[in-house]
Amino acid sequence: MKQIQIIEAKHHVGEVVQIGAWVANKRSSGKIAFLQLRDGTAFFQGIVVKSEVPEEVFTLAKGLTQETAVLITGEIREDTRSKFGYEIGVTAIEVVGESQDYPITPKEHGTDFLMDHRHLWLRSSRQHAIMQIRNEIIRATYEFFNNNNFVKIDPPILTGSAPEGTTDLFETNYFDQKAYLSQSGQLYMEAAAMAFGKVFSFGPTFRAEKSKTRRHLIEFWMIEPEMAFTHQEESLEVQEQYVAFLVQSVLDNCDYALDVLGRDRSVLEKYTTLPFPRISYDDAVTLLQENGFEDITWGDDFGSPHETFIANSFDQPVFILNYPKAIKPFYMKPHPTREDVVICADMIAPEGYGEIIGGSERATDYEFLLEQIKAHGLDENEYSWYLDLRKYGSVPHSGFGLGLERTVTWLSGIEHVREAIPFPRLLNRIYP
Ligand code: 4AD
Ligand code: MG
Repeated sequence: MKQIQIIEAKHHVGEVVQIGAWVANKRSSGKIAFLQLRDGTAFFQGIVVKSEVPEEVFTLAKGLTQETAVLITGEIREDTRSKFGYEIGVTAIEVVGESQDYPITPKEHGTDFLMDHRHLWLRSSRQHAIMQIRNEIIRATYEFFNNNNFVKIDPPILTGSAPEGTTDLFETNYFDQKAYLSQSGQLYMEAAAMAFGKVFSFGPTFRAEKSKTRRHLIEFWMIEPEMAFTHQEESLEVQEQYVAFLVQSVLDNCDYALDVLGRDRSVLEKYTTLPFPRISYDDAVTLLQENGFEDITWGDDFGSPHETFIANSFDQPVFILNYPKAIKPFYMKPHPTREDVVICADMIAPEGYGEIIGGSERATDYEFLLEQIKAHGLDENEYSWYLDLRKYGSVPHSGFGLGLERTVTWLSGIEHVREAIPFPRLLNRIYP
């Protein structure tokens, strides 16, 4: 007999098939049992009718406990009452793996309890939906950059450099040297852009940030494109096209997940319109000050209430341009006419989801960069390879980093970034 996955049910209406699944939930009366089945591809219902199956099949069905693994045999039928649209009329059940006292019951559980059981919580329909959206964003990322002639390059995880500052580095021993877990692949991606023109990376990055917020992970995944012969304005166009493409891909391919999460499609549709608005850092400060944010003065970095207010002033994601030099990393290109700002932009997501992209044009001048490296207290020997890029055919180049989990959180419309990654590493949590 043919074994299929639940997601393939629509191609097998009227056929008797076998499905390997887990019993996510069960309801039964004296005459009928409803099994909510999941196999990782989707959830759907198995119907066991007492009068239509041998006595022992109905007894077995009625006794199935939550998360028991089963091989189900039955006929695929249309089911117009369910969102999924199909069900299976069960004729036989084989128990493959028993499950006793599954800890996550259909009742409400506290966050700590769920986080302690993350290895099981992942099986829930909500987590399944979020991971589908994550997977779609990853798929669409490769599609977008491949369509635009970018080469995927993998920067190292163990590094000697600290592109985003020395305060939040994870240090480890590298034989008789010190090494750090990568905060960002950017510096290596700059080298790659000089070799391949347009490149992107997708990999894990690590920040020992003592931040316990709904936007911060200790280990998160970043997509980092880098483009040679590209100024900041062209980079902003790539960024907005990329983000709009991600939104459209989720709209096109994640109907079921968006339904499970109760995410309103008409809200997401607004984010596919280009261009996205731009506001200078200077104007953003003024906007905040005029609206009662007395705590902000020029030169400060924005906190989450500030970013949320700025985002709420627009209908789409918004770029904040040209931040003060003093609060940004050493590699950013200085402004041509102003000493105090650099050529950079953060993209702030709507609805209070905060910064999803940080990017900039990169400094190209050897002497300037050397000075910056020293001024930031970095060891110039560690960066001599990076400085080489400015000695041998230095060209204008720009790039950016998009935080995967923040993007997943935003498009899923969920509260906290911890649900946007299978096994979150958080301040004070590395289990499971
Ligand atoms: O703004 P960031 O620090 O920029 C960089 O690392 C640049 N080197 C990227 C580049 O130009 N190639 O980080 C980029 C993005 C942020 O906008 C945010 O979305 C995400 O990475 N991010 C985090 N996500 C989750 N948890 C954290 N602790 C994060 N820190 C940054
Ligand atoms: Mg940033």
